[in-house]
Amino acid sequence: TGRRRLLALIEGARAVLPFTGAGISTECGIPDFRSPGGVWTKNAPIDFRDFVARRAMRDEAWRRRFALEEQFGAAQPGRGHHALASLWRAGRAPAVVTQNIDNLHQASGVAAQDVVELHGNTTYALCLSCAARYEIAWVRERFDATGHAPDCACGGHIKTATVSFGQAMPEAEMRRAEELTLRCDLFLAIGSSLVVWPAAGFPLLAKRNGARLVILNREPTEFDEIADLVVHADIGDVLAPLVSH
Ligand code: OAD
Repeated sequence: TGRRRLLALIEGARAVLPFTGAGISTECGIPDFRSPGGVWTKNAPIDFRDFVARRAMRDEAWRRRFALEEQFGAAQPGRGHHALASLWRAGRAPAVVTQNIDNLHQASGVAAQDVVELHGNTTYALCLSCAARYEIAWVRERFDATGHAPDCACGGHIKTATVSFGQAMPEAEMRRAEELTLRCDLFLAIGSSLVVWPAAGFPLLAKRNGARLVILNREPTEFDEIADLVVHADIGDVLAPLVSH
């Protein structure tokens, strides 16, 4: 079966590169973006340029962020995260490249420097001008006290450390993801619809560079046709056996 072949491919690979999307975190209670009940299915995303231009947008973005904290603030890593952490710990995967912003790869034990976050991290905030770091709880206290999202002492706007539509991709992470992609011989795309660019370019690059491409996702994706193996199944179910391996 597909699952057996996937485990065999992992077994035989020199360097596995896991590349994850929101699907790996749904079993942790965090919704993905494009499924029914997904984040973008409910609210249209706030564009970065609107965030910068309008205080009402910043307030709205922060209200949404606080609502997430109530729903998912206590989310714990799932079976997929633990499986990838064990691959990393065993030295079979040098790093995990992720589009996720939920910090769950780090929480599952992968060292922070080996989690390559293409879309940033929502568990803390940064000043857009001076890059000072702020904790979400601090922003919330200020918001509750004043009714508005606070600005930094330098006057810059404070935003979760995520990459919004309209915002530049992080350069160092893009470079690292490219290097890792070019060095792997097995690229595992896990739980992503693979429709968001430039992130979706990495599975393509891996394939072009001669690596095997495996796609593990409940639904079909853009790149199923070019993949060496497609497994349409639940991520936790498929990856759980890796932990005991
Ligand atoms: P999507 O919501 O687009 O895709 C998640 C995929 O995971 C879907 O195809 C689901 O079918 C699948 N899925 C969900 N739960 C699963 C499970 N338990 N087992 C197997 N498959 C499952 O999320 P992403 O591809 O991560 O960017 O979205 C990419 C980017 O779009 C995000 O990083 C975010 C969003 O806009 C930014 O915010 C910049």
